[in-house]
Amino acid sequence: MGDLGEAFIQAPEHRPNTHLINSGDLISPDEIPTIDLSSLIDPDHDKTAIAKEIADACKRWGFFQVVNHGLPADLRRRVDETMAEFFNLTTEEKRKVKRDEVNPMGYHDEEHTKNVRDWKEIFDFFLQDSTIAPATTEPEDTDLRKLTNQWPQNPSQFREICQEYAREVEKLAFRLLELISISLGLPGDRLAGFFNDQTSFVRFNHYPPCPNPDLALGVGRHKDAGAITVLAQDSVGGLQVSRRSDGQWFPVTPNPDALIINIGNCIQVWTNDKYWSAEHRVVVNSSKERFSIPFFFFPSHEVNIEPLEELISEDNPPCYKMYNWGKFFVSRNRSDYKKLEVENIQIDHFKA
Ligand code: OGA
Ligand code: NI
Repeated sequence: MGDLGEAFIQAPEHRPNTHLINSGDLISPDEIPTIDLSSLIDPDHDKTAIAKEIADACKRWGFFQVVNHGLPADLRRRVDETMAEFFNLTTEEKRKVKRDEVNPMGYHDEEHTKNVRDWKEIFDFFLQDSTIAPATTEPEDTDLRKLTNQWPQNPSQFREICQEYAREVEKLAFRLLELISISLGLPGDRLAGFFNDQTSFVRFNHYPPCPNPDLALGVGRHKDAGAITVLAQDSVGGLQVSRRSDGQWFPVTPNPDALIINIGNCIQVWTNDKYWSAEHRVVVNSSKERFSIPFFFFPSHEVNIEPLEELISEDNPPCYKMYNWGKFFVSRNRSDYKKLEVENIQIDHFKA
């Protein structure tokens, strides 16, 4: 990506401070939990124990790792290979599938998080081709638009592998959604209906080595907007999570057999702040490139997000006003595309 232009430079208070994270004596020992899903193989096995572990992790961190998650290791390897092959193409080649302001899927190397440019390039594709979303961000405009994927000619097996990965990761996401529902004392299928015409997508992230890793970030601090994110990361490391209790940054230690799960804003709102959508960011380094693959499990555009009525009461009144997912989604897509004059849309804007 060449030199570090001004657009990439983080304000001093948001710079990585990697020394804080690496010297163990400066932070209290604490760790993002790892949860073993192997007991799910038997559908009749009691899910309460896992649900309890998930509840604790969602309250305290909003992040956990899962092992024995059922996503085939061989598929994971093939996706990693084909993703690396794609990013290895010339910029000219990759830009043939470049996203634009209307169609958010495809290749992009100018993403901004909170108006600072990220040190990365990405490729996005929807789980459902096509995906329906509002045509504009205008609240009164009910027009819809069909959004479609863009696929590169090379690598030749790229599309097929991407679609296979998307199907597998979606299965895991639905299993986790069920566990999360159970963990809240709700029926296992309470949340599934929100995903009938989902707007979910898979993203390939490539973070090249960065000449000034102390000034820039691979992804600036942010919360994920959807319900759940399922993230595969390689062995390089760089993801950091802000602890709910005090905002301290903690690394998510790479484990090649694990997938990282984090709660997004929709679940924070549905649970009326019981579960936490944590801020996280990616630190880059000057010697190693890094790859990661988030799956953003997003509801249908029609869903209006608000605290679930079963989870509110007189003592626990709703903390959020209702907002429409589709309009939120479209508004976010426009603002990630380029630098804006104002802060982009956040859930705090819907605080009651
Ligand atoms: C993201 C993200 C983390 C990572 O793409 O939203 O937080 O490790 N990525 O790449
Ligand atoms: Ni994220």
